[in-house]
Amino acid sequence: MLKTIAVMTSGGDSPGMNAATRAVVRTAIREGARIFGICNGYKGLLADDLFEMNTRSVSDIIQRGGTVLGTARSKEFETPEGRTMAYENLKKRDIQGLVVIGGDGSLRGAQALTEEHPIAVVGLPGTIDNDIYGMDYTIGSDTASNTIIDAINKLRDTASAHQRIAILEVMGRRCGWLALIAGISGGAEYILVPEEKFDLDKICDEISEMYKESRKRYVLIVIAEGAGSGIEIGKIIEERTGIDTRASVLGHIQRGGSPTMVDRLNASLLGQQATRALISGVSNVVFSLKRGAPVSVNLHDAVTKKKRLDPEYLRMAEALA
Ligand code: F6P
Repeated sequence: MLKTIAVMTSGGDSPGMNAATRAVVRTAIREGARIFGICNGYKGLLADDLFEMNTRSVSDIIQRGGTVLGTARSKEFETPEGRTMAYENLKKRDIQGLVVIGGDGSLRGAQALTEEHPIAVVGLPGTIDNDIYGMDYTIGSDTASNTIIDAINKLRDTASAHQRIAILEVMGRRCGWLALIAGISGGAEYILVPEEKFDLDKICDEISEMYKESRKRYVLIVIAEGAGSGIEIGKIIEERTGIDTRASVLGHIQRGGSPTMVDRLNASLLGQQATRALISGVSNVVFSLKRGAPVSVNLHDAVTKKKRLDPEYLRMAEALA
């Protein structure tokens, strides 16, 4: 049984990180453990920016986007010397276990730390990208996809009014999950993701045909940032089709906002599970959901294996467009 643990949020923030932090803190206290909050991720850990938390430290945050603990990316933590310094700051407070809430980079950092030092770690997948192996849910992905759908709905109104091609570029540097899920749910004609090749000439020909036959009044294209720049692709499409095209980049708007019920509930559930497990001696595990059921993924697998887009969704995107 671990007596003292710590929690941090790291990497890109995601809606629901606060709900997860709240669940971790309150579960730790209920289980009789002391809990420290680490400010600004690994950067704060290196700067010794830790404080002891209590039940009230996490009041009034379940509904808030961002992360009250703060987050950062730290180059120094990527070095063994940096991780030794981080471990020393944990050791001097008798912290025996760490809950890391973050994306693949943050979990990779956690794995390196536990490999090199006697500290237990568990992970909670906090990223809007939903790109972590072994699970089909990450905290914040539901809120972000709903924000994108809302943007798609708005673009539809104006695109149909002007009979234009509307392009929406969404986040996803290496993974097209957000574009795919929001694109299907928003009824996009084309969804471009970094994982799948696409033929821009073919797309332009098809769109020209659609307009000629008057089958379409407007066309909606969702592009993951990793598949190319929406603005640049928009220029090419307009040039080749001669059809008025407008591109929008949703940007960091999709990373903020009050978390949805799904993100709040899952963050609470997973935060509780991860903390109970850590305190009882579990380490090297990331807690999430697969097909709606709880799943614990080996930390090494989570950070080394590549998650693929569900082929069923890829087929559906094409079949229903
Ligand atoms: O949170 C993940 C992510 O949204 C990626 O899809 C995106 O490329 C990246 O973060 C951008 O983050 P930042 O602007 O904080 O570097």
